[in-house]
Amino acid sequence: MRRTHRCGEISNQHLGHEVCLQGWLWHERDFGGVIFLDLRDRAGFVQCVIDPEAVPEAHAVSQGWGSEYVVEIEGEVIARDAENVNADLPNGDVEVRVRVARLLAKSETPPFVIEDDPRTSEETRLRERFLDLRRAPLQRALALRHKLTLATRTVLDEAGFYEIETPMLTRSTPEGARDYLVPSRESQGAFYALPQSPQLFKQLLMVSGFDRYFQIVRCFRDEDLRADRQPEFTQIDIEMSFVDMGDVQEITEALVRRLLEVAGHDADPDFGHMTFHEAVDRFGSDRPDLRFGHELIDMTEIFADAGFNAFAQVIAAGGVVKALRVPGGGSWGRSRFDKLTGVARDAGAKGLVWLKKADGEVTSPIAKFLTPEVIAALEARAELEDGDALLAVGDQWEAAALATGALRSSLARTEGWIGSGMRFVWVTDFPLLERHAEADRLVARHHPFTSPLAEDFALLETDPLAVRAQAYDLVLNGVELGGGSIRIHESDVQARVFAALGIDEEEANEKFGFLLRALRFGAPPHGGIALGLDRIVMLLAGLDSLRDVIAFPKTTSASDLMTNAPGSVSSSQLEDLGIRLTSVEGETE
Ligand code: AMO
Repeated sequence: MRRTHRCGEISNQHLGHEVCLQGWLWHERDFGGVIFLDLRDRAGFVQCVIDPEAVPEAHAVSQGWGSEYVVEIEGEVIARDAENVNADLPNGDVEVRVRVARLLAKSETPPFVIEDDPRTSEETRLRERFLDLRRAPLQRALALRHKLTLATRTVLDEAGFYEIETPMLTRSTPEGARDYLVPSRESQGAFYALPQSPQLFKQLLMVSGFDRYFQIVRCFRDEDLRADRQPEFTQIDIEMSFVDMGDVQEITEALVRRLLEVAGHDADPDFGHMTFHEAVDRFGSDRPDLRFGHELIDMTEIFADAGFNAFAQVIAAGGVVKALRVPGGGSWGRSRFDKLTGVARDAGAKGLVWLKKADGEVTSPIAKFLTPEVIAALEARAELEDGDALLAVGDQWEAAALATGALRSSLARTEGWIGSGMRFVWVTDFPLLERHAEADRLVARHHPFTSPLAEDFALLETDPLAVRAQAYDLVLNGVELGGGSIRIHESDVQARVFAALGIDEEEANEKFGFLLRALRFGAPPHGGIALGLDRIVMLLAGLDSLRDVIAFPKTTSASDLMTNAPGSVSSSQLEDLGIRLTSVEGETE
């Protein structure tokens, strides 16, 4: 017989139906000879009952079946006895009375039990990912991913976009991470780079007149990994001609609204707007999490002549002091503040100043430098209450704000500040350029093809760090969902930006000559955005890790524990490529 339904689809709608189900044997219980089987597939599971008296043959066949065996069941859907109804299950009021049972495949005893909340390490599960993927939360996440991908294609198709593929074997792109390189056999010593994004190709497609492009595309970046970063990830990549920032934001919002609807969320959220300066100044981050307040407090004025030298010097050199009030921190001991000092240092701060108020008394390692008036001013400014602590970082504006912002994010998690909901915000008016600390030169914050704001063009030569970009990031609950910009479409503007970046003509031509040439042949004004699909699925599914929404993800050390990638290759393969390894695990050839 052919399968009639998926196991999890069976419900009281099917009462009296003869069904044929195929799936994995999940749980098995023997009640005085009567066998209860939970048969599972991607739709869920259903209880099946084998009565030895009624169907001795089926009963005999099922003897010795074990967990994760693949079996086939034929029988009738019947109502459960009242005392056996399980109201917590969608089909807990029915069961299948088995007539015929067949074995389709045996299973070895699985290394861990397939259950929603696994009791195994993630490492084991990643090694046995094909089993891990049988768990309902992962099945649900990948089903949602499919639906969101499909909806993306529909929304963009309806809005007149074409999906066009761009090469995977390409040249280095300008997104700023390290490239994954692929050696060429034909041209020994030369390498392809896997794309960090299709940025240059999508711009070329605009020059070619495609007007509206999108691609659901794999991108590769060899960068430090964390829960919301994978070395290969998927972008919903978009580019449009004859548009401004508002047009790109409008189509993005329409897409996001549809994705929210598909995922069962409120499909009409507010898309707030905030400048980069405001986001960093108030929240200490260019991707502010607006689910909670706890905004940064500026203490520069109070510390300017407060007698605490470290801060006074920073302020004299044009810096600021940013602070954070921590309710409940008044009862903390030194070690807790030491840990927070570590958090601030990791975020680039030189140190952390704290003071706390308990039983009406303010104490702090720097109390001896502060007059009662200064302490009173700090208390008033921070609206410090008894039982609170105050954390303060002094540095140049961005550094001080980002370090205090890191404290805000860290405390939000440990102190339970984070509220619920989906808080979207567009962050705009990013600086076009920033100073690269190590190289001591200016680099593009987004990429070198981002257009400056028209009103800031004149500053390119005189005050390049003050130039703002026509760039925008879409942030959801403190996670950067996407980023994009209006591009430069005029060669002379591009030349001025390259000059500000210290990129001479030769270097520009060597790296992006084909794009620069294309811009000389009638390039329409254009711009776009790329949204991180993995991050969207993760947030809409309410999950914390990209690994839970990618079928075969990598660990934070960029390896695949199941396939053991990356792995070594044979010496003949290397020979074909003209590659000789200088050292393998410490050995030198
Ligand atoms: P950007 O570098 O901001 O822009 O990337 C766009 C979005 O891709 C996602 N993303 C990642 N997701 C998972 N793992 C990663 N390692 C990772 N890196 C990035 C994020 C991010 O917002 N070409 C430009 C876009 C443009 O200008 O149109 C670009 O790639 O969600």
